[in-house]
Amino acid sequence: MSFPGTPQEHTGQEWIERYQGALMNTFGTPQRVLVRGEGPYVWDADGNRYLDLLGGIAVNALGHAHPAILDAVTTQLSTLGHVSNFFTSTPQIELAEKLLQLIGAWRTGGGAGPWAAEGRVFFTSSGTEANEAAFKASRRTGRTAIVAAEGSFHGRTMGALALTSKEAYRTPFEPLPGDVRWVPYGDVDALAAAVDDSVAAVILEPIQGEAGVVDPPDDYLLAARRITSEHGALLWIDEVQTGIGRTGEWFAHQAAGVTPDLVTVAKGLGGGIPIGACIALGDAATLLQPGNHGTTFGGNPVATAAALAVISTIEGDGLLKNARTVGQQIRSALDDHPLVAGTSGRGLLIGVGLTRPVSADVQKAALDAGLIVNNPTPDRLRLAPPLILTADQAEGAVKTLCTLLDEADGGGSTS
Ligand SMILES: Cc1ncc(COP(=O)(O)O)c(C=O)c1O
Repeated sequence: MSFPGTPQEHTGQEWIERYQGALMNTFGTPQRVLVRGEGPYVWDADGNRYLDLLGGIAVNALGHAHPAILDAVTTQLSTLGHVSNFFTSTPQIELAEKLLQLIGAWRTGGGAGPWAAEGRVFFTSSGTEANEAAFKASRRTGRTAIVAAEGSFHGRTMGALALTSKEAYRTPFEPLPGDVRWVPYGDVDALAAAVDDSVAAVILEPIQGEAGVVDPPDDYLLAARRITSEHGALLWIDEVQTGIGRTGEWFAHQAAGVTPDLVTVAKGLGGGIPIGACIALGDAATLLQPGNHGTTFGGNPVATAAALAVISTIEGDGLLKNARTVGQQIRSALDDHPLVAGTSGRGLLIGVGLTRPVSADVQKAALDAGLIVNNPTPDRLRLAPPLILTADQAEGAVKTLCTLLDEADGGGSTS
């Protein structure tokens, strides 16, 4: 069987038909067939260009085809592409050290030797797997109960799904791992009431991404830290969407001044190369012992080299600051629109609440106008553009978005 021709020799619609004939229908019909990307832009099979304000859902931190990732991946692949976990590789070790440094757990000379840290890393290939590792680590405390928040999303494997609140995702697959207690997100009293000495861990997103970029109250993570410490439970922060600079900090929980026990990351870490990590701090670092957990691809040399390139580019190009300033610019410009009830999130993880449930119409109109945005709920838009987005690119995007919001609002104009 052969299908000759470059993407340009088939229309987008023809590719969609082939997709439907060959792929499981888990995601519905794809919106477009994308064939190329450069910086914050992508092109579809019909030759249309889009400004990517979603970045593969908070993944393409450096945009598309960034030379630093290209160089790291091709150099590593041509040197050493994969090793089993009977062995290690230098980028794997360097990335673990770097993550521990960024999270504030690197103490040269403070651990067992000159190279030890007050934490340890387990690498995976995705966010859901990072959460599986943390879930298994939490079981090693000898306790089973987990407290999770309504509105949460932690992934689709059976363990991570057990901690994901959306009924439609969970119900078809029950029974899921049990002993999960649900609390309203952001409610300190409810959290205090749910946590007792039988709780292994409390899992929270510092900002709920899939729920539509929902911020907790300012003191929420601090209170969660206090409550979990009082009961000897682990505080497990899921930074899969918020981590690695997305919010203008390396990790969103750092803004709250808390030190968690478990932190999970993925998405932006590899800038498009699949990699995740479960970072365990303090005593939690030794919960998983030889034989307790494993993976073939986690910590692969190519993926870890890509992640090192992502991190050094964020550092070298001042992208944390860029995320803060460009994010603020976008929020301020959208906040005044009459169809906007309010904006949320931090840095370049942006939620836009609408006064009416028209987010699907706005998302579709945006795509037709050359902007990729996301509509996680009927009355919320989500933006998670590459951290390299410039002020000029953001200004143009916001202008287009405001025009589309005008149209969705019945054609009225903004000030
Ligand atoms: C907060 C959070 N946790 C976990 C996941 C699952 O990550 P993955 O899709 O890489 O398995 C996601 C994905 O959207 C997420 O946003």
